[in-house]
Amino acid sequence: MLLALPAIVCAQKNSTPVIAIETDATGLYLVVDELCLKQSHYGARVADPGQFLQVRDMARDAYPVYGSGNPNELALAITHGNGNVTTMLAYKSHRSWDDPSDGNIKWTEITLEDTAYPVTVLLTYKAFACENVIQTMASVVSRQQRITINSIASCYLNLKSSAYYLSRLYGAPGFESNLLSERMSEGIKVFDSKRGVRNSHYDNQSFMIALENPAGELTGEVVGGALCWTGNFRMSYQVDVMHNCYVWAGINPYQAGYVLLEGGRFDTPWMALTYSPSGKGEITRNFHDWGRKYMLNEPQRIRPVALNSWEGVGMDFDQKTILEMIDRAADLGAEVFVLDDGWFGNKYPRNDERNGLGDWDINKKKLPDGFTKFIERARARGIMFGIWIEPEMVNPSQLAEKHPDWIVKAPDRPPLMHLSRQRSQQILDLSNPRVQDFVFDVFDGILKQNPEIGYVKWDANRYAPDHGSQYLPPDMQGNLWIDYVKGLYSVYERIVKKYPHTIIQLCSSGGGRVDWGAMGYHHEFWPSDNTDALQRVYTQWGINHFFPAMATSAHISQVPNHTTSGVTPLKFRIDVAMSGRLGVELQPRDMTPEELKTISSAIAQYKTIREVIQLGDLYRLTSPYEDNFASMVYVSKDRSQAVAFCFVTKYSPAQDYPVIRFSGLDPNRTYAISEINPGKSNGSPSVGKSFTGDFLMKNGIRTTFWRACESAVFRLNAK
Ligand code: GLA
Repeated sequence: MLLALPAIVCAQKNSTPVIAIETDATGLYLVVDELCLKQSHYGARVADPGQFLQVRDMARDAYPVYGSGNPNELALAITHGNGNVTTMLAYKSHRSWDDPSDGNIKWTEITLEDTAYPVTVLLTYKAFACENVIQTMASVVSRQQRITINSIASCYLNLKSSAYYLSRLYGAPGFESNLLSERMSEGIKVFDSKRGVRNSHYDNQSFMIALENPAGELTGEVVGGALCWTGNFRMSYQVDVMHNCYVWAGINPYQAGYVLLEGGRFDTPWMALTYSPSGKGEITRNFHDWGRKYMLNEPQRIRPVALNSWEGVGMDFDQKTILEMIDRAADLGAEVFVLDDGWFGNKYPRNDERNGLGDWDINKKKLPDGFTKFIERARARGIMFGIWIEPEMVNPSQLAEKHPDWIVKAPDRPPLMHLSRQRSQQILDLSNPRVQDFVFDVFDGILKQNPEIGYVKWDANRYAPDHGSQYLPPDMQGNLWIDYVKGLYSVYERIVKKYPHTIIQLCSSGGGRVDWGAMGYHHEFWPSDNTDALQRVYTQWGINHFFPAMATSAHISQVPNHTTSGVTPLKFRIDVAMSGRLGVELQPRDMTPEELKTISSAIAQYKTIREVIQLGDLYRLTSPYEDNFASMVYVSKDRSQAVAFCFVTKYSPAQDYPVIRFSGLDPNRTYAISEINPGKSNGSPSVGKSFTGDFLMKNGIRTTFWRACESAVFRLNAK
């Protein structure tokens, strides 16, 4: 990471300069006061940060620890080797350096030391100039004693405002990523996950906080944050009576006192922060730009249109069915066919959810020719072949017979199998390096044998509200869920290095694992098993606050919907799916020729606009959470093209035709408006006409529909 050693600034009583961690437009400023590290400001970049030294009295503890006297939420609590539960950290030094391989990134590292024990705390910051994102993390190094880290924040942020408005995501499996915005009252609000290996079905570890007033899409000061961690997390927001706000973000300390052996180092996950002086939309675009440049696999690769077999055939298929599906996927214009669950297991065939996980050998009865015929057919039809795996899990299988010691389970108790929707499956202990090798080998083994597999959907369908590792010693059980996630990341790391061009989809019973930690090893995610287009308007609206459309798999499915039994028009289903990474999730054989024609025409049209959707800037226009319709527009980076969506979610007798008032266009250019996937009549009287960006952003165009589940997609081309 570090080539030339940067100059180290060491502690001298009250003469340490301001530590300025800056991006193009934002800054996090820290000062040292009597050897105590304090945070002065996070928000807009200031012209002369040296002045923070004159107002050191306004700064607040940057990383408060238990034992330092701070009565608020605390960033760190350690039990030292001799049982002392207090810590005192003194600023020792800091250094900053430009990333040797990327001029857009600047690193800063601050060293703090315990005043009585050989324990060092490092705070590391990675500033991404253009995207205005600052990542922060903390490390603990224990040089001579075994310690227990009882809680440790990746980020501890002090905010100052007269009021705070929190926007965050909440939900449940099949109801993921709903947006909730509320004024924070005094007290501590905690959102967390205690589910072990799934983390985002319920609360998500991403947030936006508007300062002073509720923010609009284009107005208001907003701080955004996203914890990059795929395990138990805790986000807490404390507002005191003096209107101070303390944001704590990190691994959930719940049942997770982490034993760090003498000489060891513990690194927290990264927290990504961003700031916007002009509304929530900019927070979104900062996260999207940063994620598309630095986090997603192959961030600039246009995502192909997929046809996934799950809702179409479930586990009930044979070779002939799949060959036919591959053909029909190609006919529709899909670019990858994904064979979902049900293809493996012989002694314990995977004919239902209760068997087979762990035995990743192809089921000979169902698929006598293995994947060979599928790959040949896909190749002949010019599309990719992909598969589903769930390699972290096990249920009755030969693996379970051979390696009961690899399974996470509390000793002397029956495993918790009665939990709803847990599919008789258990979790393999990824804190164990042998299990890590096994999981890597599952992926590697399949890909080595079938190098033409171009897409893998990686699922994780169980959570765990208890734990027990047969690998870790009894007095280190608190380490399990942390070492599990680190073990998972090390497996991902090996896989992505070896197979950088294999598209990997992140799935966990739908959107149970959507965070920027896991996303750093995937191309895309499956936001929800609920493919009902009406619910998807809300889910995708929510999750796209933090994650870009190119990663948001959105599939056209059959009706009645397999989750909700809801029936929505095909056009609506297509239009909603087009606003993300378009795909198809149905059995083409069950569709009418006319429906198939509509879908294939929509796929062809999507291919002409997807670059704008997948790589452009998202501007949200009307929120379905605040009105009876949703509208948004993706604008290409050069503002020469845009694609706008409008979805009516509810019928109201008092509803006027929705008006789309645009954002993000070039006011001085003239845009011609056309329609994608048109219905029987034009979606707007303005189709076929041209307007300046200025006019479209000040007046907008009206649509021609108002009933629930009516929709339109408009294309804008600058002349
Ligand atoms: C999970 C996923 C689904 C599907 C099934 C297969 O529920 O979210 O998309 O892959 O598993 O069992």
